[in-house]
Amino acid sequence: ISNRSSGKMGVALAQAAHSRGASVTLVHGPLTVALPNGVSAVPVTTALSMLDALEAQLPHADVLLMAAAVGDFRPKTVASQKIKKGLEKESLTLVANPDLLMSTKALNPACVRVGFAAETQHVEQYAAEKLKRKGLRLMVANDVSQKDAGFQVDTNRVTLLDGKRVQLLPLMSKLDTAHAILDRVLGLLPRNRKPR
Ligand code: PMT
Repeated sequence: ISNRSSGKMGVALAQAAHSRGASVTLVHGPLTVALPNGVSAVPVTTALSMLDALEAQLPHADVLLMAAAVGDFRPKTVASQKIKKGLEKESLTLVANPDLLMSTKALNPACVRVGFAAETQHVEQYAAEKLKRKGLRLMVANDVSQKDAGFQVDTNRVTLLDGKRVQLLPLMSKLDTAHAILDRVLGLLPRNRKPR
């Protein structure tokens, strides 16, 4: 239902893209770091409100970088009043959230869609499967079993997959990781859309 994502990777991507001259909109959940200057921010609190924000932004976007750790499930009902002790049920009924990458796929077919895959085992294999299933141009595979990579920390160690080539990147700051991802994204943009 929830996870310990800090928003650091998403903020680093926004900062790196802005520093390269891109016009950036950061659709974000709770953040533990400051918003970068010059970036337009759309705060959201649920997967469904993130979907609404993406539907509004995507038609105008050249690139979607999806670093958010979106919850796969949500409680079926939300209590309108405080649940009193003794009356609570012992289990929560969950329903599946929509997959945002899949749900927004048809909105702008020209948009270069980049996903992240947080995995703890068979990282490359699972990331390659998600790349294909979600119809993405690039997948950033994140081994979140390592203490110095993934959730909350300032560094990351990722592998980039595009269906043909597998590029292992060393341990780097999240900002340097973001720039390495953007270097690959530049190669996927039509020539006349490259910011520089
Ligand atoms: O925020 P930090 O603390 O810096 O941590 C960064 C990070 C570990 C969250 C980030 O680097 C990362 O790996 N993000 C993806 C985490 C994740 O949810 O992966 P996933 O394997 O569940 O999802 C695969 C892709 O589908 C992701 O691009 C995700 O945004 C997307 N997704 C997932 C669920 C959903 N309902 N809709 C989606 O679009």
